[in-house]
Amino acid sequence: MAPSPRDASPRLQEALDENLEAVNKTIGRLLPEADLAEAKLYDAMRYSVIGGGKRLRPFMVMESAKLFNVDSSRARRVAAAVEFLHCYSLIHDDLPAMDDSDKRRGKATTHRKYDEATAILAGDALLTLAFEVLADRDTHPDPHVRVELVRKLAIASGGHGMVGGQMLDLIGESEEFDLGTISRMQRMKTGKLFAFACEAGAILGKASDEKKKALCNYAYDLGLAFQVTDDVLDVEASSEETGKPANQDAAANKSTFVSTMGKDQAKGRAEMLAHQAVRHLHSFDGRGEMLKELAMYVLERRA
Ligand code: IPE
Ligand code: IPE
Ligand code: MG
Ligand code: MG
Ligand code: MG
Repeated sequence: MAPSPRDASPRLQEALDENLEAVNKTIGRLLPEADLAEAKLYDAMRYSVIGGGKRLRPFMVMESAKLFNVDSSRARRVAAAVEFLHCYSLIHDDLPAMDDSDKRRGKATTHRKYDEATAILAGDALLTLAFEVLADRDTHPDPHVRVELVRKLAIASGGHGMVGGQMLDLIGESEEFDLGTISRMQRMKTGKLFAFACEAGAILGKASDEKKKALCNYAYDLGLAFQVTDDVLDVEASSEETGKPANQDAAANKSTFVSTMGKDQAKGRAEMLAHQAVRHLHSFDGRGEMLKELAMYVLERRA
């Protein structure tokens, strides 16, 4: 069974489920499908994106878009683009040259199901598809908005963002990092893409810099709490629960919050960060309830 969001409040669970269904339709429409000689690539892309995953980043896009009354069909395109980029990062993260994982979202990783070359190409094609979707006029009629989306996703996912964080993660296998470096690495690996997902609604809604900043700050703390919990789940949860191999970080000698401060202190750190994340939403008054609940869910999750 592919993991789905669990241990969320009934209200959040319902919102996550609804979002998953709506975003999955857009994802299905945007993924290439063609009866051509290269169809193996499209199959591998679909295999990697469809049928699993919590769709948390798309949920962040949709919830932040609601704060600014953004047209939901536009927001869903951005939500799909973020998920494509995320899935590319997972395919490459699982490769033998990186974490060498054979299970993801409760099924075989893409390189196991197909082969390494196909997995690399499926990742590449998902990465570029994300930008193709953002740059399309259907995403927003104002080209300035489209350029801002493209530029900010590039920054979030490139050398100063997710990819840079992944480099640090690999270096951290043979070097012992201090807490500051681990925090910076996790912020790059996970926080930057969360921040893009949360800021995207504000970009689509042409919101003020102040609102964008508040959402980014929320997302950085949430992203860190999320990645600390991911590190805790690596040692604490079963492979059946998470849908990916257990105890991989210690086996690869990774520098994580758990390796540095131990599981219990890491949990305390995640809780502190999740509460701090919620406080960044105060300027939205009573709105953003689902984002607040999401911060609490990140602590409780088992998948
Ligand atoms: C996994 O992210 C990679 C990390 C940043 C830890 P998710 O836990 O959001 O993975 P899916 O999308 O639900 O599979
Ligand atoms: C990966 O972190 C984060 C990415 C940017 C893909 P992990 O290597 O800890 O993610 P999992 O545990 O394999 O999902
Ligand atoms: Mg990794
Ligand atoms: Mg991994
Ligand atoms: Mg992990």
